[in-house]
Amino acid sequence: MTKTLRLAPSILSADFARLGEEVRAIEAAGADLVHFDVMDNHYVPNLTIGPLVCEAIRPHVKIGIDVHLMVEPVDSLIPLFAKAGANIITFHPEASKHVDRTLSLIRELGCKAGLVLNPASPLDWLDHVMDKLDIILLMSVNPGFGGQKFIPSTLGKLRAVRRRIDAHQAAGGQPIWLEVDGGVKTDNIADIVRAGADTCVAGSAVFSCPDADGGYAGVMQALRQAAK
Ligand code: DX5
Ligand code: ZN
Repeated sequence: MTKTLRLAPSILSADFARLGEEVRAIEAAGADLVHFDVMDNHYVPNLTIGPLVCEAIRPHVKIGIDVHLMVEPVDSLIPLFAKAGANIITFHPEASKHVDRTLSLIRELGCKAGLVLNPASPLDWLDHVMDKLDIILLMSVNPGFGGQKFIPSTLGKLRAVRRRIDAHQAAGGQPIWLEVDGGVKTDNIADIVRAGADTCVAGSAVFSCPDADGGYAGVMQALRQAAK
């Protein structure tokens, strides 16, 4: 069981017409990161936001921007996001021809680097790059859309990645965050954290909460409470 839980609301479910206000509101409500979903209608069947939007929201918050690239190819976009103020950049290894090189590029530009594994992606992708990872993101839905249902087999996969990270650190390796993305709600976050996650993305759970329930702060408190 990990000590700190980081919450990363995904702005995919925010009101895009009021994005500055939305990111300020989640920061004020206790978010640890802004999760920023980049989709290209090629690697995934949806189209969202790019570096210009990242640059536009950057001055509105102090918390880190966690850029999740669902794009192919990957490399040409990385310098643009680093320049736009991204703090973390993760990508899907299937979308890069040279995974080791892409991870190095992200770090050279001063960002934390990570791989994202789809529900059907094997953990073998981690085998030879553990020393180049600051974060591992496990998808608990198939990427492309918010509001999908959590895939339960992610829990076993989380436990396996947690064992790998702990062994890596016990052998003197650097810290690696373990993030989960997709379908995280108050009714499953305890299982997710118990399985080893320290960072949870939550899109629809945060942004579709009614004001009557305490707004964003209420739902984030409820997520933290449920995770205990
Ligand atoms: C899915 C995105 C997720 C998504 C999560 O492809 O990567 O970040 O916005 O949304 P919820 O929490 O609604 O599943
Ligand atoms: Zn995401």
